Amino acid sequence: MTLKENKFSNIESSLNLGPSLSDSMFAAFSDFIYKHTGIVMRDNKKTLLSNRLRKRLKILKFNSYEQYWTLLQDTVKNKDEMYHFLDVVSTNETYFQRGTSHYEITKRHLLPSFIKDHKQHVNIWSAGSSTGEEPYDIAIFMNEFIEKNPFVQFSILATDLSQEVLEVAKKGEYADRKISKLSIEQRNKYFDKINPENSSLSFAREVLRVKPVLKKNLRFHHHNLIKDPYHTGMDIIFCRNVMIYFDRETQKNIVNKFARALNNNGYLFIGHSETLQLVEVNVNPVRFPEGTVYQKKNE
Ligand SMILES: C[S@@+](CC[C@H](N)C(=O)[O-])C[C@H]1O[C@@H](n2cnc3c(N)ncnc32)[C@H](O)[C@@H]1O
Repeated sequence: MTLKENKFSNIESSLNLGPSLSDSMFAAFSDFIYKHTGIVMRDNKKTLLSNRLRKRLKILKFNSYEQYWTLLQDTVKNKDEMYHFLDVVSTNETYFQRGTSHYEITKRHLLPSFIKDHKQHVNIWSAGSSTGEEPYDIAIFMNEFIEKNPFVQFSILATDLSQEVLEVAKKGEYADRKISKLSIEQRNKYFDKINPENSSLSFAREVLRVKPVLKKNLRFHHHNLIKDPYHTGMDIIFCRNVMIYFDRETQKNIVNKFARALNNNGYLFIGHSETLQLVEVNVNPVRFPEGTVYQKKNE
């Protein structure tokens, strides 16, 4: 992949010339995206969507969106293109130590309550994990936790719709802005500093690679929140900055599927800027000084 094609290099706008996306084609792509991902593309996202799709047009040497639309229609035959399509339509912005009050709630309140209940294994799901910063952050505080509580074990499942971000996450190499909030101690203990030239991020000033200890209890899987069966037996689910892309009905369905995926008394975090309509959902808000978490209503 060249630098220009890499959406993590933040130069989407370099592709502003070329065919234009008609209103009817935009409507058709928006419906398709909603059907396959739950993501709502409002009218003000037309330029964003046309720029992103144009990357595929360029790679496939197509000169119209209609041509690409025809290719996408046979999603069974064009499974690979469907993966590329999901990669370009999803928004994957994330970084280390984002929304740390949720980590504080987990460390100060949730994990101690599990210990009190003699829980020996904690199952955590990072749903919509993007390029991996969130699940590696979770692995950092869980490693700290088990140093003090060695009788506890944990597993982290990290899932996303986009194969491309999962590949980045598995590689575990991060640069510049993404790592700027990590403390010196976290950097030294959990990352190796590597020469950018020897990494997938040769354009970066500074590159850190996660140490194997952070990968030990962590697995990355492809999972579409609106189409695939949910994993069960979870104690905590982080689904942050994902709900914002869905409409209320989809949010309600996803929250109720999360509730079924959680063990009794299990917890769900959503993003700081996200709100849940608390009608017909099987979770209750629990407020701590650091913020709010949603707890499964017991069956
Ligand atoms: C903005 S990122 C959030 C990353 C991280 N959770 C955080 O808070 O920093 C949103 C992620 O949700 C994923 N996503 C969007 N729709 C999804 C779906 N239907 N199923 C699974 N993941 C989805 C996107 O691919 C993207 O990586």
